[in-house]
Amino acid sequence: MSAPITEKYPNYSPGLEGVIAGISTISEIDSDRSSLQYRGYDVHDLAEQGCFEETCYLLLNKKLPTVAELAAFKKTLADEYEVPSHIYDVLRALPKTTHPMDMIRTAYSALAPFDPDYDAPSTDGDANLRKAIRIVAKAGTMVGNGHRIRMGQEPLAPRKDLGVAANFLYLVNGTEPDAKTVQVMDASLTLYAEHGFNASTFANRVTVATLSDLYSGIVTGIGTLRGPLHGGANEEAMRMILEIGEPENAQAWIDDALATKKKIMGFGHREYKKGDSRAFYLTKIAKELGIEKGNTKYGQIADILEKTMLERKNLFPNVDFPAAYAYYLLNIPIDLYTPIFVIARVSGYSAHAMEQLANNRLIRPTVIYEGDKNLEYTPIEKR
Ligand SMILES: CC(C)(COP(=O)(O)OP(=O)(O)OC[C@H]1O[C@@H](n2cnc3c(N)ncnc32)[C@H](O)[C@@H]1OP(=O)(O)O)[C@@H](O)C(=O)NCCC(=O)NCCS
Repeated sequence: MSAPITEKYPNYSPGLEGVIAGISTISEIDSDRSSLQYRGYDVHDLAEQGCFEETCYLLLNKKLPTVAELAAFKKTLADEYEVPSHIYDVLRALPKTTHPMDMIRTAYSALAPFDPDYDAPSTDGDANLRKAIRIVAKAGTMVGNGHRIRMGQEPLAPRKDLGVAANFLYLVNGTEPDAKTVQVMDASLTLYAEHGFNASTFANRVTVATLSDLYSGIVTGIGTLRGPLHGGANEEAMRMILEIGEPENAQAWIDDALATKKKIMGFGHREYKKGDSRAFYLTKIAKELGIEKGNTKYGQIADILEKTMLERKNLFPNVDFPAAYAYYLLNIPIDLYTPIFVIARVSGYSAHAMEQLANNRLIRPTVIYEGDKNLEYTPIEKR
């Protein structure tokens, strides 16, 4: 049997695990304490006592806002909710079967040339901040109205009197959401906003590090977030919970899944080995929501899966697991779960893009070549 690849190449870390690929002041994951801080503030405090707009302000401006600064920032965002109608024409041209993640990725691509700072150099920090605000403000509108378009409905004018979470929910349903729904959505956006050098944020930084623009970074990020090992896990987790159906089926289901070596979506994390701090908080919210809505069965299924995964695999749920059944209890269509992640994470992507561009170096790792060498070329007619 050949030696493990890491013995053969001691400097190689598959999946870049443990590799330090940058220095950042945006967020810190402390895996030992299972904690996450945005610019030094615990996400629990931000989610419980603040609002998503405050987190966006913190990520983009590197400090918490005052009352007046937050009010002005919310107004600036609301004034930027609207998108050019051409974006809706592009979305209408897509097949109705298009996944909303592909719609939002396409929407950002189409949006870039409409940005008033389109021609600004990618190193112009002021222009980048203005772009970042537009990017954050328009996400909920594009996901919400993108959903309407694929449902054969007309886009609605965004509601400037509502925050990001409420405006998005209003566009999806065509009615103003209740306060509890807005609170859960807002907290989940705060928890999803930023998470260090995760795959999509890193991909976003790789893109802007070529001195490409913020929008290209966002498009790269969304494409990377889409997969089930990353953001796509929240949709897959809900499909799994629905497949289980009832709490009495859960034990047999998970026993069988583990026996057949299935990956259980919404469990495990590259960074957190003692639990995902965001999941602790969102699990509490999701279970309370179930009690409030008189539907505790998803919480009960979750309890069984969580206990079994911990006992047998020493794995904890990640944020995508409670987010899945919280969103389901809020009647949000499953294929909007990962796009909701986008609405939140574009704030983190933008902060990282600006940080990268403020002190840039091209990101270009190296690779070990293991293919053939020095082969003799035979002209095509002689092969
Ligand atoms: C998040 C994730 C990609 C991290 O991956 P990673 O750091 O590369 O860890 P690995 O996939 O190498 O997993 C290490 C071990 O734990 C197991 N494992 C990890 N997550 C698992 C899961 N969700 N279900 C079952 N087993 C899992 C792996 O099979 C592997 O076991 P092995 O060593 O016996 O082969 C992984 O946990 C996963 O695929 N989770 C499900 C998808 C998900 O929820 N993604 C959202 C992340 S926020």
